[in-house]
Formats: sequence, structure tokens, C-alpha cells
Amino acid sequence: MKKIIVTGGAGYIGSHTVVELYKSGFTPIIIDNLCNSSIKNIEGISKVLRQEIKWHNVDCTNQKSIDLVFEKEKNIEGVIHFAAYKSVEESVKEPQKYHENNIGSLEVILESMRKNNVKNIIFSSSCTVYGSPDILPVTEDTPFKKAESPYGETKQLCEKLLEKDSCNSISLRYFNPIGSHSSSLIGDCSTDKPTNLVPILTEVAIGKREQITVFGYDYNTPDGSCIRDYIHVVDLANSHVKALNYLIENSGKHAFNVGTGIGISVLEAIQSFEQANNLKINYKVGERRDGDIEQIFSDGTQIKEKLNWEANQTLKQAMIDAWNWEKTK
Ligand code: NAD
Ligand code: WQD
Repeated sequence: MKKIIVTGGAGYIGSHTVVELYKSGFTPIIIDNLCNSSIKNIEGISKVLRQEIKWHNVDCTNQKSIDLVFEKEKNIEGVIHFAAYKSVEESVKEPQKYHENNIGSLEVILESMRKNNVKNIIFSSSCTVYGSPDILPVTEDTPFKKAESPYGETKQLCEKLLEKDSCNSISLRYFNPIGSHSSSLIGDCSTDKPTNLVPILTEVAIGKREQITVFGYDYNTPDGSCIRDYIHVVDLANSHVKALNYLIENSGKHAFNVGTGIGISVLEAIQSFEQANNLKINYKVGERRDGDIEQIFSDGTQIKEKLNWEANQTLKQAMIDAWNWEKTK
């Protein structure tokens, strides 16, 4: 059983990935200080797997503590580095906090990897590295534009850091992860107030919010609202297992888009949520949100060809799972 360190393994995407790693025969070891998650996800992972997963409650920016984890665990095959702050809005207000945690944690992890001769790392990147793309769908060769936010800038800088390092790396550029594990035992436990579309939809459905505003109606898209590529978080989690297997066999530097390849508008997403869950969402159409990109969706050719990965789950299933998580969390 190959040991894999999963930083941020108590988080939304991390917890789902820990489950899929274990199911695929890896031994995941979580490092997470719960700064943006909850013990509930650690407990949820154990319930889903009927198996305790090792967890170190350690800050990834603390070199000494991370070194100790690597020394204690020994024979680590690779690292999946999720730990980071992820709120675009907060990053605009507190850029320093984002630089320190997001870049700082990667520097610390790379240093511990060097000291302990661990070669392989999968990094949580984001389609935000592309900024506002000129050509759609976006391929991995699309050049990075000026980042739309300090958060986006940290992802670009982390990818550059990986390029310069001696490690083998894969940057997975996630599009818009949504949904939850079908058990509803793990999910998004962020302490932040949600700003993403689907968590806001579920809050409206359950009555925590009165309504949702569709940000913009006059974009150059078929229905005037923005277009994104929404991917089920379990599909996304599985891409990490494929990436890890690939990296173990193929050293060097790689980057892959992880999306469905399908562009969905905000109005279509609302309609899909309503139909999947047989309920009505109170929404109004309003002004554009600052910094929003008109449309972005993935070209999935590379990841299909090289990792043999593609999304399996439907948008409808993701909307059902998102709603179930809201009702039980
Ligand atoms: P999340 O906040 O749910 O998970 C991140 C986890 O990392 C949390 O459990 C948090 O407690 C932990 N963490 C943060 N800083 C830490 C530190 N210094 N030491 C130890 N633990 C720390 O976020 P998520 O949605 O699961 O995102 C995971 C990764 O994927 C992040 O790097 C994020 O930037 C990236 N990403 C997310 C999305 C998205 O829409 N959710 C899209 C693209 C990329
Ligand atoms: C989706 C669409 C909004 C809320 C962000 C980050 C990106 C990545 C994913 C991490 C947009 C619209 C939303 C609302 C709305 N994260 N919307 N009303 O903006 O694509 O990306 O999360 O890397 O970096 O920027 O995701 O879920 O916020 O928005 O109309 O109340 O829903 O305008 O078109 P986004 P989102």
C-alpha cells in the first residue's frame, strides 16, 4: 500500500480524494489544521470507509512540524497538496494572507519532500490561472493571463514554483467543483460564507437566504448569463488517483485541465437544480459581479488521452448530491 500525504485532506475536495485513494489501494495520510474545515469531515471519511485514516493536525506553513510528519511516516510515495485558502473575495481584501499560506505551504512541502527524498507531487491548481480566455474551450497550452485576483496569482506562482523545483509534478487545473459524496457524510465544511453558485442555491432552497442574484444578463452568451464547466467533486477526486498513477510511471512536469468540457450558463444551472430536486428557486437577475469571466470551459483531450480520465457523473446528479449535503450537514 503506497503512502500518500494529503495536505488539506479534511477539506471539501481533499476529503473526497482521501476516500477515492483508499478505495484504489493507496494509504492516504492527512495533514490538515482545520483552519477552513471541520472534524466532521475526518469522522465522515472513517464512516464512509469503515476505516480510520491517519490525520496530523499540523499547519503546512510550519517547516519543523511538516518535517517531523515526513520523518515519522517514512517511505512516502507522493503528496497531494490541497491545503490553501480559496476565497477569491477575501484574497482581494487580504492578499498577504493568501500569499503566505498558499505559496508558503507549497514551499514548506517541497522542502520536506527534498529532505526525505519524496519525488512526486500533485498540486491543486485552478482554471483561474487562464484568466479570461480568448479561445474556447481552453487547452493546457493556453497562456496564463494577468490573474483576476490575488488568489489566482497564488495559483500561477505555485505552478511556476513547481516548474523550477526538482520534483515530479502534476498541476491539476480544476474547473468548478460542485456536489458531494452520495453518502452525505463528507462535503464542503468551509467556515467562510459561501460565494460560489451551487452552495448559494442550496442555501436559498433551504431558506437560509431569501433569494439568489444572477450576476449579469447581458453577456455575449445564448441566455446572457455567464458560462462555466461544473464538475462533480467525486469525478474530480478520481482524477487525482489517475494523476498519481500516471506520475509514478511518468516523471517530469505535467498539467491537466479537469472539467467536463461542457459549458453551462447560470440560468441553466438554476434550472437543473430545480428540476433535479423538484423545487423552485427564488432568483432575480442583477448586475455583473466584478472580475467575473464571461465564459470558460475545459478542453479535456489531454487528460483523457494521457490519464484515461473523463467525468462520469451528470449535472443532475451533482445537483441532487449538493442538495442532500445541505439538508444533512
Ligand atoms: P477547502 O477549504 O475545503 O480545503 C482546504 C483544506 O486545507 C481545509 O481543510 C483547510 O483546513 C486546509 N488548510 C488550509 N491551509 C492550511 C494550512 N496552512 N495547514 C494545514 N491545513 C490547511 O477547499 P477545497 O475547495 O477543498 O479546495 C482544495 C484546493 O483546491 C485548494 O488549493 C483550492 O485553492 C483548490 N481549488 C478549489 C476550487 C473550488 O472551487 N473549490 C477550484 C479550484 C481549485
Ligand atoms: C459561478 C457562476 C457567477 C454566485 C470561482 C473562483 C475560481 C474557482 C471556482 C478556485 C459565475 C455566477 C455566482 C451568485 C451568480 N475556485 N453566480 N450568483 O466565479 O466561476 O469561480 O470558484 O480556484 O477561481 O473564481 O465560481 O461559483 O462563484 O460562480 O450568478 O450568487 O455563477 O457570476 O458566473 P467562479 P462561482
